[in-house]
Amino acid sequence: MKILISFSVLLGFLAAALGGNFNQDFDITWGDGRAKILDNGKLLTLSLDKTSGSGFRSKNQYMFGKIDMQIKLVPGNSAGTVTAYYLSSLGSNHDEIDFEFLGNLSGEPYIMHTNVYTQGKGGREQQFYLWFDPTKDFHTYSFYGILKASFQESRIQRCGSGVPKDQPMWIFSSLWSADDWATRGGLVKTDWSQAPFTASYTNFNALACTVSHASKSCPKNSSSSAWFSESLDNSGVERIKWVRKNYMIYDYCTDSKRFPQGFPPECSLA
Ligand SMILES: *[C@@H]1O[C@H](CO)[C@@H](O)[C@H](O)[C@H]1NC(C)=O
Ligand SMILES: *[C@@H]1O[C@H](CO)[C@@H](O)[C@H](O)[C@H]1NC(C)=O
Repeated sequence: MKILISFSVLLGFLAAALGGNFNQDFDITWGDGRAKILDNGKLLTLSLDKTSGSGFRSKNQYMFGKIDMQIKLVPGNSAGTVTAYYLSSLGSNHDEIDFEFLGNLSGEPYIMHTNVYTQGKGGREQQFYLWFDPTKDFHTYSFYGILKASFQESRIQRCGSGVPKDQPMWIFSSLWSADDWATRGGLVKTDWSQAPFTASYTNFNALACTVSHASKSCPKNSSSSAWFSESLDNSGVERIKWVRKNYMIYDYCTDSKRFPQGFPPECSLA
């Protein structure tokens, strides 16, 4: 994820052609005015105060391809806040790919918590410190593929056999408070005198097939259709290894207390 390395010129071009507009592509789903679409659809902000958080959801469902969003997380003392950005097909057998960004005291590191559900089954948690300041500038967060192996490579996460791939998913994001658990198990509470807390979104680009009202449409083929099964190139894979090695703080695949009978099958994948 994060600035998932070098996008090709072709992707840049297609992405521009399909450039996202929040008015067109998303609905604000909750928060009673705390979520706002600004700047003619180019910017979206979520905010959180003591009364409520807020959230939005894509109008379309997506399969395959690549979904980029630039996000600037809650700056300053964000302890207890959680910014979630995820794909989900909803329903009891849902597929879901989650990012949750757990805020922290000023100057202390955010944690990125990830999970993957396949056919309604999750339990694939991993946690990372971020290797950049996610609050200072916008950073690009990408879902790649939504196709089998590319997810395994690209998203730092490993999913193995039951990888989300069959069910088109909506894009969701929300900002809420979870100071009962988020910051060191609930040790650090949200400082409401700092409210409202705000996370910002811009430059949404989906180079992906969309599904709406049971009809599917995909971006037109260009001279190359590499985007369709877009996954990471070698430098991207190396970068993921570097992140895992240096910034990973929890991996369900090494939590032997949790899996005394042996790790889930996907854990043996590279
Ligand atoms: C917050 O900072 C502390 C101290 O650096 C760290 O132990 C913790 O993992 C950080 N993140 C969260 C979400 O608590
Ligand atoms: C798009 O291109 C791929 C290979 O580049 C090809 O397999 C596929 O059939 C093409 N799809 C359309 C709709 O032209």
